[in-house]
Amino acid sequence: MRMYDILHRKRQGEALREEEIRWFVQAYTAGQIPDYQAAAFCMAVCCRGMTGEETAVLTDAMMRSGECVDLGRFGDRSVDKHSTGGVGDKTTLIVSPIAASCGAYVAKMSGRGLGHTGGTVDKLESIPGYRTELTREEFFTAVERVGMAVIGQSGNLAPADKKLYALRDVTATVDSIPLIASSVMSKKLAAGARNIVLDVKIGSGAFMKTEEEGRELAERMVHVGEACGRRVCALLTDMDTPLGHAVGNALEVDEAAAVLRGGGPEDLRRLSLALATDMLALSLGLARTEASQRAEQALQSGAACETAARWIAEQGGDPSFLTDGHALTHATVEMPVYAQHAGYLTQTDAESVGRAAAVLGAGRTRKEDRIDPDAGILLYKKPGDAVERGEMLAVLYTNRPSAAEEAQAILRHALTVSEACPAPHRLLYGRVESGTAGAVVQNP
Ligand code: URA
Repeated sequence: MRMYDILHRKRQGEALREEEIRWFVQAYTAGQIPDYQAAAFCMAVCCRGMTGEETAVLTDAMMRSGECVDLGRFGDRSVDKHSTGGVGDKTTLIVSPIAASCGAYVAKMSGRGLGHTGGTVDKLESIPGYRTELTREEFFTAVERVGMAVIGQSGNLAPADKKLYALRDVTATVDSIPLIASSVMSKKLAAGARNIVLDVKIGSGAFMKTEEEGRELAERMVHVGEACGRRVCALLTDMDTPLGHAVGNALEVDEAAAVLRGGGPEDLRRLSLALATDMLALSLGLARTEASQRAEQALQSGAACETAARWIAEQGGDPSFLTDGHALTHATVEMPVYAQHAGYLTQTDAESVGRAAAVLGAGRTRKEDRIDPDAGILLYKKPGDAVERGEMLAVLYTNRPSAAEEAQAILRHALTVSEACPAPHRLLYGRVESGTAGAVVQNP
């Protein structure tokens, strides 16, 4: 097989054959295809697209390029949740204990944040003592004992994606629906859960800027997951504005804890319950109304909070903040941002808030950058809220005094106060669930 012929055929807009796609993934992972040809492949896919079947084969080949976790011991009850990335998205810390306290098994491998988006592993590292690296034995024991564990992603999970993603990042080929779908799903499938709930973010802080693009990505990922023999559904949710009030690692853990104690911001609580409902419906085979009642009950009764405390302790962390409510954040600099005129908050631009938080130390622009767990932003107003002149809109937290002014300028730009009250803010755009996709490729 020759890479030149594959590139030529894709450039002409032809569908590639299964053996061509599998050969490309295997040979590129093994270092037998140079980066310039792999980059040309990504560009050709960006420009010409891929069919659902091509995407499923590409995903399957990428999944098989490394280790595949076997969660067979948990039967049909293993469930994973994946967000395509956003600002202030701490739902994993809430939905996992809800699902585990209801009898599902959540054996979760999460990522770190990059750019303006946050990552669950960075958030968890702000809990004193919490170990994000466990041996395989410790990981499975934790899932068996508590019903859940959350660790960093294993280095050998979908190595083909690791190489391709690094290449896409520098060749302007990230925002292609088949490439994003295969990248996300190859890792999720390799992580082994029988059931997968996807949270596809739409808006300024997300990869998908419009509802139409988000729906297309969600449909493609659901199709690919089903074609690989898993049960998958996707929620389409807003990322024009950050989720909840907190952005930044320790601040977000504190906010997730508030939801687990029965309080917290309404949007975060609502989205967490919606995701947990689908996790329970898929993994326990429940009707969605019953799954929703069980999820709600797990929060209200404190069962989810108790499970979260057992989970954190099992992974070496101190869970006392969950019950006594003490804050994990101790930044040395706090800088408030006040409204310069009265009106309504019409926009809180998620991408800019994420960038401001990264400047404060909550995120990284390069993989090697160190995170400051205390850094971040608390937003006191949501779009649609009335604002008085001089009222506090947000507070910035950092241990880098020199960063505060730059972050404040970015944040000021992110917050728009206007005279007219905006239309009500939509959190949930829709849902994509199992259709009729046949098993195009087999389960590992
Ligand atoms: N997240 C991924 O893992 N891959 C992409 O291509 C985009 C977002």
